[in-house]
Amino acid sequence: MNFLPLIEAKRDGRALTPAQLQEVITAYVAGKIPDYQISAFLMAVFFRGLDSAETRALTLAMRDSGEVLKFPRNDPRPVVDKHSTGGVGDKVSLPLAPLLACLGFRVPMISGRGLGITGGTLDKLESIPGLTTQLGPDRLVGQTQSIGVAMGGQTANMIPADKLLYALRDVTATVPSIPLITASILSKKLAEGLDALIMDVKFGPAAFMPTRDQARNLAWSIVSLAIECGVMTRALLVDMSAPHGRAAGNWLEVKESVQCLEGHGPADLQTLVIECAASLLVQTDKSPGMIEARQTALDCLASGAPRRKWDQLLVAQGADLDAFRAKIQQDHTAPVVLECVSGEDGFIHQCDARIIGEIVRDLGGGRMTKTSVIQPDVGVDALAKPGEEVRRGAVLGRIHAVTMEQAETAGARLKTAFAFAPRPLPARPLIVDEL
Ligand code: URA
Repeated sequence: MNFLPLIEAKRDGRALTPAQLQEVITAYVAGKIPDYQISAFLMAVFFRGLDSAETRALTLAMRDSGEVLKFPRNDPRPVVDKHSTGGVGDKVSLPLAPLLACLGFRVPMISGRGLGITGGTLDKLESIPGLTTQLGPDRLVGQTQSIGVAMGGQTANMIPADKLLYALRDVTATVPSIPLITASILSKKLAEGLDALIMDVKFGPAAFMPTRDQARNLAWSIVSLAIECGVMTRALLVDMSAPHGRAAGNWLEVKESVQCLEGHGPADLQTLVIECAASLLVQTDKSPGMIEARQTALDCLASGAPRRKWDQLLVAQGADLDAFRAKIQQDHTAPVVLECVSGEDGFIHQCDARIIGEIVRDLGGGRMTKTSVIQPDVGVDALAKPGEEVRRGAVLGRIHAVTMEQAETAGARLKTAFAFAPRPLPARPLIVDEL
């Protein structure tokens, strides 16, 4: 295929036809277009955009680049999922998926790896000893049918186009594009054969959409296309100026997710988990309204059933439960831990999620190139949260690193993430809008 005219067309701002976009995806997945040409194409899309017909065509071509899941229809449990546009410390999917299974849903969650400074569910799950996320369509459906939940990634025969493009966008600075994010997310979600979807769309300095208005546009792009494709979808607009919870880094986030499942996780994480679950209960008519739905989700979480479902999920995906239990008992699993303390008294009014995300990535928790190898146990935990009062010498966060030198560099950086005020400032709402 001569791909050059299509790159030129997009560079010059001309629209491509569905057939052309389908041809691009088919040829790329077949290895007939080199990465450097696709990179140029992605950059042209980044600057020129795609109109709604092109976005739809790209999404469907990516979905159909592999197998689409087929669930038995004679099962009363709705097939649902949640997806986030990416944040720092954003571990909502981990406790949410087993909770949803316990609420009577089927959850065939297909997630991604870390992108830029934002973490990815697959990288987090793979920090669990023995666990595999390479499930394939039959196993995803079989496991979802039998235990209500499966958590996997794109494979060579399931949305392979997104597997390839996702990794390439990450290292070519082409992630923050509304049509590319829409196509990436919905190619996965439409391949799951969902009845309902809840989107967690982040905005702020650590998100791909810096402003609330841009996040609203992204949410609208995703919600409208998903509904057009038959999936009952809603979106929450979520402030990503501070990390969610107190931990950022793959294994550290798994630990915090388990705390959430055990009822002693951070409040902001629990709020997001409950809001997503409640929304899906309402979207699928399993609950008459959000007030009842929130209570149903809270009661289910408190029952301990989702925590047991988590263990069941781990075993189903090959994890070594004894090794997981031993690992979770340890205070830290990275070779070095360094406390970073406050040099002043005051109320924290900012913990900059962008800086935290960069620290985690630079410690080895994220990728710089397509072949970067992730360090699963590095990151930051025990983070002080906006609104909290701290005294000089109080811990602002702990760095988990491979070497002392890296820990010290990260520790110096961590201090710059915090800003203090003499008095508490009004708390920023976490969920600012819904669609
Ligand atoms: N999540 C995805 O799956 N894709 C994106 O492009 C961004 C977030």
